[in-house]
Amino acid sequence: MPYPDAVIADYREAIEGKDPTYHYLAEVDQRPIGMLQHYRIADSPEYAEALALGEDAVGIDLFIGEADLVGRGHGPAMLRQFVRDVAFPFHGIGVCVIGPSVDNVAAIRAYEKAGFRPLKEVRVPGEAQPEFLMRLTSADLGSLQR
Ligand SMILES: CC(C)(COP(=O)(O)OP(=O)(O)OC[C@H]1O[C@@H](n2cnc3c(N)ncnc32)[C@H](O)[C@@H]1OP(=O)(O)O)[C@@H](O)C(=O)NCCC(=O)NCCS
Repeated sequence: MPYPDAVIADYREAIEGKDPTYHYLAEVDQRPIGMLQHYRIADSPEYAEALALGEDAVGIDLFIGEADLVGRGHGPAMLRQFVRDVAFPFHGIGVCVIGPSVDNVAAIRAYEKAGFRPLKEVRVPGEAQPEFLMRLTSADLGSLQR
């Protein structure tokens, strides 16, 4: 299927620096296998209002784009490393949230394995399903280090 123009336009805005969302490729053995992005929740006023967090937080999204690499534990590993080494230092914030769709059971489980804890369900304007909001702090990450 052709890729939706509106999605491409969103990525282009960020790459050109017009939208403060920062995109990264995840690599396994130098093979690009997925995408991660981070942003400060407060930089998206409509989303921030929907989440009503009451604290400054970083938002993260990710996907693995290679079917043979889904379901092998890469998601929790790349998420933990990205939050610790990239997103928290970049923003100078030690709280992170992630909002998989309530029906994305695999993603919710993967984020739980990465150390995220359930926070609340939120309805976000324009999204078909509520988000199952999950939260992780730098203190949580410290207690997960092996
Ligand atoms: C979400 C994602 C990043 C997770 O990374 P991953 O490497 O696949 O995660 P894991 O290999 O740790 O597996 C996740 C868990 O979900 C479980 N799972 C998979 N499919 C499931 C299903 N249909 N129902 C319930 N649990 C399921 C797995 O059993 C595993 O749990 P376990 O280790 O306790 O058995 C990855 O699956 C992905 O990119 N999916 C497609 C895009 C997407 O959903 N992005 C997230 C949007 S918020």
